[in-house]
Amino acid sequence: MTPKTRSVRRDIGLLAGARAITPYMVSIRRRIHQNPELSFEEVETQKLVLDELKGLGLRGKKAAGTGVVAVLGTGNAPSVALRADMDALPVTEMTGLPFVSKRPGLMHACGHDAHVAILLGAARLLRERDLPGRVVLLFQPAEESPPGGASLLIQEGVLTEHGVGAAFGLHTDPTIPTGRIGLRSGPLMAATDRFEIIVRGRGGHGGRPHQAIDPVVAAAHVVTGLQTIVSRRIDPAKAAVVTVGTIHGGTKSNIIADEVRLEGTARSLEDSVWRQIPELIEEVVAGVTKALGATYEYRYTRGYPVLVNDEKMVSIADEVTREALGPRATVWLEAPLLGGEDFAYYAKEVPAAFLRLGTGNEKKGVVHPWHSARYDVDEDALPVGAAILAGCALRALAGGVKATRKVAARKKR
Ligand code: NI
Repeated sequence: MTPKTRSVRRDIGLLAGARAITPYMVSIRRRIHQNPELSFEEVETQKLVLDELKGLGLRGKKAAGTGVVAVLGTGNAPSVALRADMDALPVTEMTGLPFVSKRPGLMHACGHDAHVAILLGAARLLRERDLPGRVVLLFQPAEESPPGGASLLIQEGVLTEHGVGAAFGLHTDPTIPTGRIGLRSGPLMAATDRFEIIVRGRGGHGGRPHQAIDPVVAAAHVVTGLQTIVSRRIDPAKAAVVTVGTIHGGTKSNIIADEVRLEGTARSLEDSVWRQIPELIEEVVAGVTKALGATYEYRYTRGYPVLVNDEKMVSIADEVTREALGPRATVWLEAPLLGGEDFAYYAKEVPAAFLRLGTGNEKKGVVHPWHSARYDVDEDALPVGAAILAGCALRALAGGVKATRKVAARKKR
């Protein structure tokens, strides 16, 4: 038997195993769906995860406040981390599902209920196998609210403590049909930052502009100047967006205002651009307001960094996908997505792959986008997700992941 056929059999076994525990995952997903909790408030979800892990003979440890970390296998490091996020959103559910949210105004409208069920399913599959290393299960709180739970888990040392050498995570994707997995090497999700600018002038009479400093004119020049960041300052081969979304100032047509407030979003797909943008914005704001006699206040708030998928981990995910689901099951994503995702922090520390799990099903009407009040997940995707995540962990461990230099160096300190 060639190694290839052996691995084919093993992975088909994983999918069959996952299908056998679908009712378990469905019931977990529905229980969490009925009890959605916002970022860092995942108290009931945390309890559910701890109880379920206990039922599997695993000891979960509370982490990052409302998260849970558990370790499978007794082998030595390095280990592979599998991550599921747990938080819900302030959305009033309109799905009409029999297991609709019991908490008014809160809903699992981003599929994180399914992510938790899938990771528990993967844990059940992996528990039955001889692991050539360790698998670290990260039930992570607060993906939806920066600074997010991932950075906290990393600060608490979860990667160094367990010698994590690779990480995998997935997100439901209603634009991809159930049974397929969306993959992309390199940048997958954007860095999504916010900025606020206050342009201060000196108010006065609209008919006597020479006695005032008009912040409306200065703000208009700032907005125009900001357009040159993407067109003139950033390498045209690299993507970026600088959008001014709101502009507020003034009270009456014949009054020159004291100040104008602007708010915007800056998005980018490469670390170098992500680092550049805040300063470039301030240069424009400082220069333009100075030239026009105005002053400014400026605040730039980082969201999550760019999520960059590692080529080797993506190829592992592709192999596992094709072997478990068929030769055409991988959907290669041409372009990155401009949403943000705090899995990016793990991917900055260790080679990682974030997978888009197909959960769309037109026949069932499961087509609504993330964060919609009608968002739903095709539950037939639960076993697929569990089998693929478990398969990625096994394959990565078998391939000999190494604790990356970054993690190893920190551990020594
Ligand atoms: Ni999400």
